[in-house]
Amino acid sequence: MNITDKLHITNEDNMELMSRFPDKYFELAIVDVEYGIGASAPTIKPNIIRQRNGTDLRVRQPNYLQKKWDFKKSSAEYFKELFRISKKQIIWGGNYYGLEGGYLVWDKLNNTSDQYGCELAWISFTKRTDIIYYLWAGMMQGLSPSQNIHNALIQEGDKKKNEKRIHPTQKPVKLYKWLLDKYAKAGDKILDTHLGSGSIAIACHDYGFDLTACELDTDYYNSALKRITDHTKQLQLF
Ligand SMILES: C[S@@+](CC[C@H](N)C(=O)[O-])C[C@H]1O[C@@H](n2cnc3c(N)ncnc32)[C@H](O)[C@@H]1O
Repeated sequence: MNITDKLHITNEDNMELMSRFPDKYFELAIVDVEYGIGASAPTIKPNIIRQRNGTDLRVRQPNYLQKKWDFKKSSAEYFKELFRISKKQIIWGGNYYGLEGGYLVWDKLNNTSDQYGCELAWISFTKRTDIIYYLWAGMMQGLSPSQNIHNALIQEGDKKKNEKRIHPTQKPVKLYKWLLDKYAKAGDKILDTHLGSGSIAIACHDYGFDLTACELDTDYYNSALKRITDHTKQLQLF
């Protein structure tokens, strides 16, 4: 389905999607594959967040749908197709596949209170290891990457500006915007084979990139579609 003339989103298996494209069609693939750690069926115990004033805040986890997709890993055939149809790749969770080379570390600044403290993205076109800080801990979120990390546990002002979390492994829109700023060139065609909540689509839309993406799970697909269309319509109003 074309949400706009630049956002092409489908509800299908990524192998089907990839089979339709010729070699090296996409300039950049930014994918968030299965890690095989069971993150699709999260526990709902509350997070404890240490605040700057020293007190602990108990934050209830959203009650996400329990799914099975993260109990296995992506296959060798998947990676073969991914490397066939894209020129450059950024692979979240590349560390679970033993990929060697450059990495981006996303430090969630969550005091180990919300899922894992960091996530790693393997980057095919650098040998560097870089780090980005972005607070992502339940309702605590929104530190801009340029802000002082010592203020990390402070929310970015107005709670209403927080991103609504609709998916257990959702990544922030701002994280994707940062990746696009740093690693994509104007006019690049972007591929995401594991759309999830659709954060990447919102980032691509706001920055004018052409995105092709798919999501296998129909519940997630419908929620992502609603989130993305709400966002694009809201922008049209202004
Ligand atoms: C790690 S999550 C992606 C989260 C996403 N980056 C976000 O910000 O919301 C992986 C997603 O891939 C989907 N998925 C798993 N296997 C798939 C497949 N074969 N084809 C397409 N999507 C798949 C899962 O349903 C899940 O939503």
